[in-house]
Amino acid sequence: MKTFDAIINRKSVRTYTGEPLSENELTQLLKTAYASPVSMGNYDDLTITVVTNSKWLKRLESNAQQTFHTDRAMLYGAPMLIIISTKLQGSSADNAAYSNAATIIENMNIEAVELGLGACHIWGVINALAQNQALMQEMKLPEGQTPVAGLVLGKSNEQYEARDIPMDRIATQRLD
Ligand SMILES: Cc1cc2nc3c(=O)[nH]c(=O)nc-3n(C[C@H](O)[C@H](O)[C@H](O)COP(=O)(O)O)c2cc1C
Repeated sequence: MKTFDAIINRKSVRTYTGEPLSENELTQLLKTAYASPVSMGNYDDLTITVVTNSKWLKRLESNAQQTFHTDRAMLYGAPMLIIISTKLQGSSADNAAYSNAATIIENMNIEAVELGLGACHIWGVINALAQNQALMQEMKLPEGQTPVAGLVLGKSNEQYEARDIPMDRIATQRLD
């Protein structure tokens, strides 16, 4: 698949069969994560956590449901959640840290399309996790880093098809 088609056809997938990903698929996804551009090449400021244990997936979802006072599904029954944690400084420099995480997630999301896997960026569950120190410690997330971005992945019966992307979707300025 052409990169352009993978980007255009990508969509947030929120229905999963529950089947696990293969080790080869995970390796391929992680390779695209490791290939991501990272500000100043500070790879050591980042940690990738791959969650496939169904007990952890349920804990993370119910933690978010409690935080946001909802009973709606937030991980959609996906068999894998990938979490990106990074060092934050509480200053405008954090923009780069968030951008690093988003870039890594998007690389994996596009690769998921190429592999025919469903995927969806996840913020709610990650935000709720970042507010729960005890849960972060129990998960052994790296000290001094904060979970800031996530991606659920899995096999889905949904198909990727050519999408019609409106050319006025995002305000665009030109200084010719
Ligand atoms: C930073 C970020 C966080 C997101 N968080 C969630 C989320 O927590 N749950 C969810 O279902 N979708 C989440 N999404 C998916 C967006 O809702 C989705 O990308 C948007 O509605 C456009 O739809 P599309 O991805 O199908 O093109 C997130 C997307 C981004 C980029």
